[in-house]
Amino acid sequence: MRVLITGVAGFLGSHLADRFIGAGHEVVGMDNFVTGSPDNIAHLTGNGRFAFFEHNVTNFIYVEGALDGVLHFASPASPRDYLELPIQTLKVGSLGTHKALGIAKAKGARFLLASTSEVYGDPLVHPQPEGYWGNVNPVGPRGVYDEAKRFAEAMTMAYHRFHGLDTRIVRIFNTYGPRMRVRDGRVVSNFVVQALKGEPLTVYGDGSQTRSFTYVDDLVDGIVRLFERGTSEPVNLGNPNEFTVRQLADLVLKLTGSRSRVVREPLPQDDPKVRQPDIARARQALGWEPKVQLEQGLETTIAHFRRKLA
Ligand SMILES: NC(=O)c1ccc[n+]([C@@H]2O[C@H](COP(=O)([O-])OP(=O)(O)OC[C@H]3O[C@@H](n4cnc5c(N)ncnc54)[C@H](O)[C@@H]3O)[C@@H](O)[C@H]2O)c1
Repeated sequence: MRVLITGVAGFLGSHLADRFIGAGHEVVGMDNFVTGSPDNIAHLTGNGRFAFFEHNVTNFIYVEGALDGVLHFASPASPRDYLELPIQTLKVGSLGTHKALGIAKAKGARFLLASTSEVYGDPLVHPQPEGYWGNVNPVGPRGVYDEAKRFAEAMTMAYHRFHGLDTRIVRIFNTYGPRMRVRDGRVVSNFVVQALKGEPLTVYGDGSQTRSFTYVDDLVDGIVRLFERGTSEPVNLGNPNEFTVRQLADLVLKLTGSRSRVVREPLPQDDPKVRQPDIARARQALGWEPKVQLEQGLETTIAHFRRKLA
């Protein structure tokens, strides 16, 4: 099999490339490094099953030869990134998704969209099943990401219904693991980096807001299952074990042995108060559920950040 992965130099795209190459497939990777890094794919240089093109996928995508799949992962993904890159985020979610769908159609390839739990916004239904349409503020600061992904889902379904394209939509919940950036602004990397540097851990609000954290290997396993034998309906992939942000801070302090303090800052606008996936569909359609415990996944992630900060 030969697949195109957009956003291949990012956290998730690079792990996905490793998984496909490890399974004996060929990967064509594309990235413009707006938030990704060449370091994430450096180990693939010279691998005969990997080809890389530096390209902004908001523009027309051309790939020579046959493709069996297109996995569209290009997009700023952390709140810090998409608030700094609002127009690029809207463009890659809309125009970039259109271009990625276009090449999938031209090649007769299966298409998989990396969507997000953010399509549920600040949810009024808890936990969130795929049938919930969400509670999103289109004109709030986070609207640039949430609405781009909602548009991307709508575009994917239009290609499926109108052009008969074989499509998949994965709604990814907070995922963590090695290759996260030191400054990506997501809660796990924030806490681990602050703890390792001996800086105070910043908790927004009173820390009672909940998040679910999926380890990257579990997520990639679910994505491959969805790609290979899934459905065109959106599928949540995430960990249903919910933790408060405060609990995460305490666990990070314990595992790093850090003596950092925890400090509170005001909640950002439209910050979701609860977030927990309903994964009944993933269980039933893919036989998938996360296996890695938070403590276990954090150990590997902490080791990664220790190397980066050394
Ligand atoms: N990590 C998570 O917890 C999470 C949760 C929900 C959804 N997602 C989705 O998964 C995907 C990957 O996220 P990630 O965590 O790996 O983020 P990331 O920032 O590490 O990776 C995104 C990659 O896309 C590239 N990119 C962005 N715009 C581009 C463009 N116009 N052309 C070419 N390349 C471009 C970036 O340079 C980067 O390498 C994103 O679509 C994101 O929305 C991630």
